[in-house]
Amino acid sequence: MHNITFKTLSPQSQTPLSTSRPLNIAVAGTGYVGLVSGVCMAHRGHYVTCVDINEKKITMMQQGLSPIYEQDLEELMSLNEERLNYTTDYKYAYKNADAIFIGVGTPEQPDGSANLSYIATVARQIAETVEKDCLVVVKSTVPVGTNDKVEQFIKDFLVNDIKVEVASNPEFLAQGTAVRDTLEAARIIIGTNSIEAEDTLMAVYEPFGLPIVSVSRRSAEMIKYAANDFLALKISYMNDIANLCELVGADIEDVARGMGFDCRIGSKFLNAGIGYGGSCFPKDTKALDYLATLHGYELRTVKAAINVNNDQKILLYKKACQRLITFAGLKVAVLGLTFKPGTDDLREAPSLDNIPLLLAQGADIYAYDPVGSENFRKRFPETSSEIEGEYGKGSINYVRSAEAALDGANVCFIFTEWGEIKAVMPEDYKRLMRTPLVYDGRNIYDVNKMRKNGVEYYSIGRK
Ligand code: UGA
Repeated sequence: MHNITFKTLSPQSQTPLSTSRPLNIAVAGTGYVGLVSGVCMAHRGHYVTCVDINEKKITMMQQGLSPIYEQDLEELMSLNEERLNYTTDYKYAYKNADAIFIGVGTPEQPDGSANLSYIATVARQIAETVEKDCLVVVKSTVPVGTNDKVEQFIKDFLVNDIKVEVASNPEFLAQGTAVRDTLEAARIIIGTNSIEAEDTLMAVYEPFGLPIVSVSRRSAEMIKYAANDFLALKISYMNDIANLCELVGADIEDVARGMGFDCRIGSKFLNAGIGYGGSCFPKDTKALDYLATLHGYELRTVKAAINVNNDQKILLYKKACQRLITFAGLKVAVLGLTFKPGTDDLREAPSLDNIPLLLAQGADIYAYDPVGSENFRKRFPETSSEIEGEYGKGSINYVRSAEAALDGANVCFIFTEWGEIKAVMPEDYKRLMRTPLVYDGRNIYDVNKMRKNGVEYYSIGRK
């Protein structure tokens, strides 16, 4: 029995498995999708080589360190080290692989479409390298029809006389719970256009012991967007209702609780707040909208989700502007910088929308985040209010605790519901701040408790 324990995993997921059909798998890209999938496939008995062009990342992983902040990942890398390899040498990884998973990024382009250049690069490398029949599995989120193009592209550039097929296997992991979401997924979607491809993916996933939904490649590609956009829509819907709740004197938390009991609605993803962020919902809503437009169709529901979210992200800032004459010379505490807890990822985080606005108004910001400050500092270096910076006369300082941010502050914004931030008690705001004025984008506190403790408290969808 191994002596590593995993915080997020059930007893069944703790132990590595051996499978009667272990495959040689290569994974292109070691971001959240690629690395977590690769490590989890090794945990389920396959031999996995993770490939990345970034030598620094590969060296880290060879030393047993994860280049991304993710619960349980490093422990799982260590437990399965004999079945895991990390390399920048894609030729070595691809040439004899049974299956090659592509998990590289598909970032948003200025027009909202997905940038497929990283996928194309990997596809070309595969075509020029593979020496035996193999299955290429696209895990990255790609517009419907991309798998067909990838297959044709590989065929066009294939050097050896072998058979390469492409399958779609979208990923449903969320950052912060990525390992658990992979090993204990609600379902695995496989999209194939042949029995052979389906059989290979079955061999990959049988040892996971999870429900497998086998569909065509195009349907699999669509399931990913449809699922993400539905969740984004659910959040925007709740935010829309929350804004109305405030106007009519209802409470969004009570409303969500009442709705959630209906299993047709479900109780998850009903939390109103400061809008969704991250590397997925904002990108995938825009990409599907773009795809629809390309086909001459207007995807009105998804468009609405995008519009509500854009407004929601700066709603509290706007409320604060109504309350205060100016932010110039005010000490502003910012609690939470990442788009959600459990990750150091800042992509599309509401903090990125609000902090430039506050700086432009001359605020002196004291920001606290348990893990996100270093990344934030790269975009917004610590500044002094003496010098006019890119965003005006404000300044930004990074502090090591919520208390340090709140000490003497005139106003506080809460952007992320980290445990360390939730641990701040209502009375602490009153005790530490110069004026206890709090704008909470995550509805962390009980409205009455904050009021009783003398805090002027604004949140989302509650009076
Ligand atoms: C999301 C999906 O949840 C995953 O299933 C999917 O695989 C992933 O995108 C992806 O496509 O790769 P992620 O972006 O990591 O995962 O994070 P979520 O936990 O879904 O949160 C996204 C945003 O929605 C966060 O900003 C969060 O604060 C916000 N949110 C979530 C709400 O505002 N309210 C809620 O009730 C839930």
